[in-house]
Amino acid sequence: MKMREIEKVKTGIKGFDELVGGGFSQGHTILLSGTPGTGKTIFGLQFLYNGAQKFNEKGLYITFEEKEGALKKQAAQFGWDFEGLMKKRMLQILSIPASTISKSTVKDIMRIVHRFKIKRLVIDSLSTLSINAPSNYHDGNEPNEFTIKRFIYSFVNELKKMDGATSILISQAPDENSLSRDEVSEFICDCIVYIMYESMGGEFSRSFTVRKMRGTKNDEDIHPLEIGGKGIVIHNIKD
Ligand SMILES: Nc1ncnc2c1ncn2[C@@H]1O[C@H](COP(=O)(O)OP(=O)(O)OP(=O)(O)O)[C@@H](O)[C@H]1O
Ligand SMILES: [Mg+2]
Repeated sequence: MKMREIEKVKTGIKGFDELVGGGFSQGHTILLSGTPGTGKTIFGLQFLYNGAQKFNEKGLYITFEEKEGALKKQAAQFGWDFEGLMKKRMLQILSIPASTISKSTVKDIMRIVHRFKIKRLVIDSLSTLSINAPSNYHDGNEPNEFTIKRFIYSFVNELKKMDGATSILISQAPDENSLSRDEVSEFICDCIVYIMYESMGGEFSRSFTVRKMRGTKNDEDIHPLEIGGKGIVIHNIKD
């Protein structure tokens, strides 16, 4: 008997999907990690824009880092009409200041995903959400290393229970040697995409690698990542 094939969620990012067996697996949680300014937010916006524009999938961008207007402007620079797709209810941006993260924030996110049948979710960032998670997750105390880990376990598990939504969780890597600040999200998520920024011969350039992908044989090479006029393009080193 043929096993039911896992549906693939195409990012539509040039050069990316072929490196991961056609796309992310539907329902997976993807940790998108990188140091500051590597292109994580742009990757998230592009994933949602392509989903809505090319694949008719509804997307939700939750940000604790930026204002809705700033994200729309960033998207518009690449010709992505968030405004129009938001009017059609294909895309939503929810900007939640970190200081206002409350007991209900996680529940609210899940409720919106269910209500609007969201297929693609981006959380920018998991690092900020977990540090500012309300005190009930931290037994009423200031967050510490263990309560942050516990929060991430419970949050990612909630996401995994959601039917059909594929989530990109942005992780602020503190340096080139770690994937997250909490040292646990990389174990819990199904897939890890890592973007790095390095100096080669005096010039800075970005590259990316897929560090893990449960259930799929992924490419393990490091590929140049370029942010051009139409957003992110991955250059396959084997081409
Ligand atoms: N229109 C553009 N064309 C080319 N490159 C751009 C353009 N807009 C932004 N960039 C580049 O992308 C970088 C920012 O990307 P992005 O905001 O996705 O990074 P990030 O990883 O989310 O950063 P942070 O961790 O600070 O949130 C800028 O520093 C700039 O180098
Ligand atoms: Mg960002």
